[in-house]
Amino acid sequence: MKPATFAAPRRRFEAVPAEPLETAGLSAFGQDMLAALAASPRSIAPKYFYDAPGSALFDRICELPEYYPTRTEVGILQAQAVHIAEAIGPNAEIVEFGAGSLLKIRLLLDAMDRPSRYLPIDISGEHLAQAAARLQQDYAGLEVLPVVADYTQDLILPRAAPHAGRRVGFFPGSTIGNFTPPQALHFLRMAARVLRGGALLLGADLFKDPALLHAAYNDAQGVTAAFNLNLLARANRELGADFVLSQFAHSAFYNAPLRRIEMHLVSLREQQVTVCGRRFSFSEGESLHTENSHKFTVDSLRALATEAGFTPGRVWTDPNQLFSLHWLQAPS
Ligand code: TRP
Repeated sequence: MKPATFAAPRRRFEAVPAEPLETAGLSAFGQDMLAALAASPRSIAPKYFYDAPGSALFDRICELPEYYPTRTEVGILQAQAVHIAEAIGPNAEIVEFGAGSLLKIRLLLDAMDRPSRYLPIDISGEHLAQAAARLQQDYAGLEVLPVVADYTQDLILPRAAPHAGRRVGFFPGSTIGNFTPPQALHFLRMAARVLRGGALLLGADLFKDPALLHAAYNDAQGVTAAFNLNLLARANRELGADFVLSQFAHSAFYNAPLRRIEMHLVSLREQQVTVCGRRFSFSEGESLHTENSHKFTVDSLRALATEAGFTPGRVWTDPNQLFSLHWLQAPS
């Protein structure tokens, strides 16, 4: 009789663990790097750029002559600070996603009416601690509460302080464009939840002449290349990997149909690398896709925010329409 022998093998099959055991105990970076290298095509989340050396390189990118977004966004913040502060209102609590070096927030704080508390969230712990200490020194009356976290994972924030004004999110730098559209929606829905009853001030880079876009991610000094390659250097430092940096090239180009800059690390020859004790081969020209930077129109950004539950309000731009800052009302 067959049915008697049928059940046993099935139970044994179900006992096989779904996750390969080799990734147990690895850091998130290790797990995601192994998954990226095992996939085809290969791609990894850009958040791993931001270890301490990567965050320092990123600060240099923001000052490059070709990299217009930072100085343009700072220009809008300076020119519109009074209007933005008015929209924020008195005693507000600011939550910044991916706060970096905490430079832009100073422009808002200086214009705001008695800000109550500032929660900068960043994945780069050491960089954040230093920047938060400097900010606290300059704004003695403000409660600065740095949060070391990956805000692409579900985020739990401290309760709003008693008697605080509304909670306003700040998400500058067009980091929204570093998500794919579904990831951007997921982030915005999470933001709508943590900012309930408040608002989000969001910076989005606008679509423009592809030659200007190309130059912004291919600077003459090679800082962006060094920033991209730091991902491999970080793997060497943290994962015992043996990437030879001179055997990979920075590649950034505009993908017109998808309206985004793509950044890749391209293997310059056929080669093998070891990461976390596992070997992977690269053919010549094979790439590891490290980042997307989507470009928006004012309307495409507002449509995305609406889909996530926000009500779009005012939009501030620069005279050349390079960059946009959006006031997005969170659901109540
Ligand atoms: N959000 C920024 C952007 O998409 C991040 C960024 C700027 C960036 N320059 C970079 C990321 C260079 C990687 C490499 O523009």
